Amino acid sequence: MSLEGKVALVTGGSGGLGRVHGLVLARLGCDVALTGNRNLEKAEAVAGEIRGLGRRALGIKMDVSDTGEVVSGVAKIAGELGPIEILVNNAAFGIVRATTIIKMEKSDWDRDLAVNLTGAFNTIKAVMPGMVEKGWGRIVNVSSVTGTMGGFGQCSYAATKAGLIGLTKTIALEGARNRITCNAVVLGVFDGGSFYEVAEPFRERIIKRVAMKRAGDPEELSNVIAFLASEESSYVTGEAIVVGGGIDLFTF
Ligand SMILES: NC(=O)c1ccc[n+]([C@@H]2O[C@H](COP(=O)([O-])OP(=O)(O)OC[C@H]3O[C@@H](n4cnc5c(N)ncnc54)[C@H](OP(=O)(O)O)[C@@H]3O)[C@@H](O)[C@H]2O)c1
Repeated sequence: MSLEGKVALVTGGSGGLGRVHGLVLARLGCDVALTGNRNLEKAEAVAGEIRGLGRRALGIKMDVSDTGEVVSGVAKIAGELGPIEILVNNAAFGIVRATTIIKMEKSDWDRDLAVNLTGAFNTIKAVMPGMVEKGWGRIVNVSSVTGTMGGFGQCSYAATKAGLIGLTKTIALEGARNRITCNAVVLGVFDGGSFYEVAEPFRERIIKRVAMKRAGDPEELSNVIAFLASEESSYVTGEAIVVGGGIDLFTF
């Protein structure tokens, strides 16, 4: 499997899992742009790691909820690396918030939707015309089992992760005639990133319900994303693929 000559954008490349996705795509031959929002320097550091692998890379400030920043960011990436052919919508907010709907502020709901769901709308809308022109594209949206199973205290986050699945299937239909695939990865829990913001006793309780009794290594997810980003997945589209070590199985 090779991504040689392709250009990828990983949103949330300043975060725990986004960093690994960027590195794995780069190892397969891809040039990679990574976005940071509050922590641009982390995205730039990952870009530096990728350049160390001999690929071209760019860390870029992009608030995905800001349409103007997305449009200008995508244009900047196209100018420096070339048109984006692979988009990984990984950025998210409110990942570990635990606030029941009665206590949740409307402003938190609005922000989570703006980043997690409208953010994906913004990036897809900005990159898809280039993919149509090229007659090839790969879009991977990062969802969560919270979106398919619900999550106590996570109404906004769960709604956005469920919404991404509907968005994925629709973009798959709209992209099919131009060889653009769109799939979602539905995550369980992974070592690194936001899972470590969860208090340890809760982490242990979550891991107990995973059939494999462990959190995933981020590369176990990045490898699935890389497959969905490759030519080899050309007949897979509109799917929501659970990568969770059996977190959604009936364990007891
Ligand atoms: N880790 C897990 O176990 C797990 C489980 C299920 C799903 N997920 C999903 O996996 C993805 C990555 O999670 P993670 O664990 O790596 O979380 P993380 O380390 O907290 O990273 C979150 C990323 O999202 C970016 N982000 C937040 N608001 C943004 C905005 N307005 N515009 C652009 N970027 C923004 C952050 O950038 P800045 O810091 O630069 O602002 C950061 O790069 C998310 O979609 C999450 O929902 C993770």
